[in-house]
Amino acid sequence: MQSVNILPRGSLKGALSPPGDKSISHRVVMLSSLAEGRSVFENFLFSDDCMSTVGALRSMGVKINEEKGRLVVEGLGLKGLKAPKGELFLGNSGTTMRLLLGVLAGQPFKAVLTGDESLSRRPMSRVTDPLRWMGARISGRDNGNYAPLTIEGGSLSGIDYVNKLGSAQVKSAILLAGLFAKGKTRVVEPLPSRDHTERLFAYLGLPCRHEGGAITVEATKKINAFSLTVPGDPSAAAFFIAAAGLIEGSDLIIKNVGLNPTRMGFMDAFRAMGGRFEIKIRDERLEPVGDIHVRGGRLRGIKIGRGEIPRLIDELPILMVLASYAEGETEISGAAELRVKETDRIHSLCTNLKAVGADIEEKQDGCRIQGKEELKGGTVESFGDHRTAMSLIIAALRSKNGITVNDTDCIAISYPKFLEDLKGLGLIAP
Ligand code: S3P
Repeated sequence: MQSVNILPRGSLKGALSPPGDKSISHRVVMLSSLAEGRSVFENFLFSDDCMSTVGALRSMGVKINEEKGRLVVEGLGLKGLKAPKGELFLGNSGTTMRLLLGVLAGQPFKAVLTGDESLSRRPMSRVTDPLRWMGARISGRDNGNYAPLTIEGGSLSGIDYVNKLGSAQVKSAILLAGLFAKGKTRVVEPLPSRDHTERLFAYLGLPCRHEGGAITVEATKKINAFSLTVPGDPSAAAFFIAAAGLIEGSDLIIKNVGLNPTRMGFMDAFRAMGGRFEIKIRDERLEPVGDIHVRGGRLRGIKIGRGEIPRLIDELPILMVLASYAEGETEISGAAELRVKETDRIHSLCTNLKAVGADIEEKQDGCRIQGKEELKGGTVESFGDHRTAMSLIIAALRSKNGITVNDTDCIAISYPKFLEDLKGLGLIAP
């Protein structure tokens, strides 16, 4: 198990291109596997989580290779996947398990999905219940709430579903199953979640529409192979935006980052805290993509409530770090979903930030933070969670004595080059 010791090293200057978007990388592998022919993806995220999706589809007969840094997928068509010979081990990846359940709901064979200890503790009935209502047969611990899960798909019918959790994984699983279902599948979202699946469906010409306040999809006969460049991941970029924002005198350009409005809650919160940045959009064909120019400065505390959570769910850990260094109080509420991520992120962040000197109070659905000019530093644990580890590494950059983060191998789940990128900006000794 690796540990990382990070010391404050002054302001950040330069430019950085974040890795490919994790959510979009998962989705393009699944959709291109169901497409007919060869699809090629530039800037695909070769991280542990996305390789879990690649591994599962390879086990169902899809040829997927890396060629000169690109991902090449030889799709088998909507009816071409083969029954896997063994269990599909999905590592730490909740996105793989939930979205793949949607794909498998449409397949006339049996598959068993397993994962690591963290994934086996994550609730799945949010996806297995609606897929059962559509017609899939699913069994697993606690009536299908926990992996290992066995799914046997086949003849599905569309459903009407209200996505009360504001979960893009739930919505996407249902929409993917809807590609194989009789009749219309409708998902209503009281709080909009990330819309990459719908955008990809529209890009591919699939029968997916916004209709009467719902997202609807109908069965399709064919998906054509497609090629695209995956936008940079705004959730990965958030760590460096926060680092630059926290340290006065910083001046950093984040290049080719996804600017999808359903992912921009962190930038809105950063602006409300007094964060200084400008955005330049370069491309808007599939997703808006562009550059973010951030400058360091003083930040102030804010209030974040339930309505804002889905648009910044993955950035709450780094937002808690920003709040720890902001002037005044920050209150985060309505974020109980954070407790069922790769680890309980309310607990992991509150425990770790307290250990390095923050004034933070854990609440059932969030926290209260009284910001300080400086945190003393110390030693913290990643809890096996990539975003907890990276958030504490960024917190170290404005600490008095530095921070040691234990068990940092998990960073490879979403951002294998994170430490290399920190080094590139001179934030870790070469
Ligand atoms: C994701 C949706 C979010 C997010 C996760 C990726 C996706 O999860 O936290 O990292 O790709 O659809 P929920 O759907 O559980 O909110």
